[in-house]
Amino acid sequence: MSEIEQKIREIQEKAREEIQNAGGLDRLTDIRVSYLGKKGILTSVMKSMKDVLPEERPTVGKWVNDARKEIETLMDATKASLEEAALEKKLAEERIDVTMPAKKIRIGHRHPNTLVRDEVERIFIGMGYEVVEGPEIEYDEYNFTKLNIPANHPAKDEQDTFYITDDILLRTQTSPVQARIMEQGKLPIRMIAPGRVFRSDEVDATHSPSFYQIEGLVIDKHITMADLKGTLDVFAKELFGPETKTKFRPHHFPFTEPSAEVDVSCFKCGGKGCRFCKGSGWIEILGCGMVHPHVLEMCGLDPEEYGGFAFGVGLERITLLKYEIDDMRLLYENDVRFIDQFS
Ligand code: DAH
Repeated sequence: MSEIEQKIREIQEKAREEIQNAGGLDRLTDIRVSYLGKKGILTSVMKSMKDVLPEERPTVGKWVNDARKEIETLMDATKASLEEAALEKKLAEERIDVTMPAKKIRIGHRHPNTLVRDEVERIFIGMGYEVVEGPEIEYDEYNFTKLNIPANHPAKDEQDTFYITDDILLRTQTSPVQARIMEQGKLPIRMIAPGRVFRSDEVDATHSPSFYQIEGLVIDKHITMADLKGTLDVFAKELFGPETKTKFRPHHFPFTEPSAEVDVSCFKCGGKGCRFCKGSGWIEILGCGMVHPHVLEMCGLDPEEYGGFAFGVGLERITLLKYEIDDMRLLYENDVRFIDQFS
């Protein structure tokens, strides 16, 4: 046997062995490249044909071609059987037992806080208000300055406010939305802005570093404190029942003048005094007032021409009252045994 014939046989033998032991499709592709590819072993034999005597070339050429054909046939067969094995494996793994009992689908429901927010929105939409949103990451300018809160105000302390930079912070109240909407200058304004606020507070039964407020703002010509009182009285009656009375107590907020806190008659005892209202017959629910002229000016409105009222409600506070929940943490822990009571 000539040297070249010997060589071709050896290549063929080795290829057979490698193909049989390939074990996987990736390896098979590598083998194909290593024998039949442009730089493959068999291809290089074909290229060395120029060293073979011209009269022997047809014979040698046939050997190489036969070897090539054999390797290809073997490869195709092996590929087909490997593919079939892979498919079998996949089918076995993905087999579905259609007789198995199905997983029970739990249908979710709205969180008590969401129920109250939706209710508050419904009440104000009914009075012609628009629901708007503002950013949770806010400028100091909007959260404080434009709301007439001076630089030395305790609320600006780092103990109360999460600062991101010197002039960017996590809003501590939804009141900055007032400033943003007034600045847009589309009058009159009748809006509420529900949203998340942040304060550097420790978690306990009545505090959390993140909670929700609903801001309200009305701006127009000839708005009086009577409009504020009437509006919040309707709100309280809708939310807590038609028997509910409201009481305005003088208070101070930098962005309103005059300012008030609003109490509602205790919806548990009707005002006689009970454990729920700590014997007073009244429960505090929100802060409000007539928008301060400085705020109007800083937000681009003429206080001689326009005025209005604002209010801010703590959403959790209302939720806790309405559902008689005595610990705010229950609202955030999302224990389904608790949450499911509100479905
Ligand atoms: N922003 C106040 C707070 O977080 C709540 C508030 C009070 C909002 C009076 C108002 C308002 O719009 O008029 O305590």
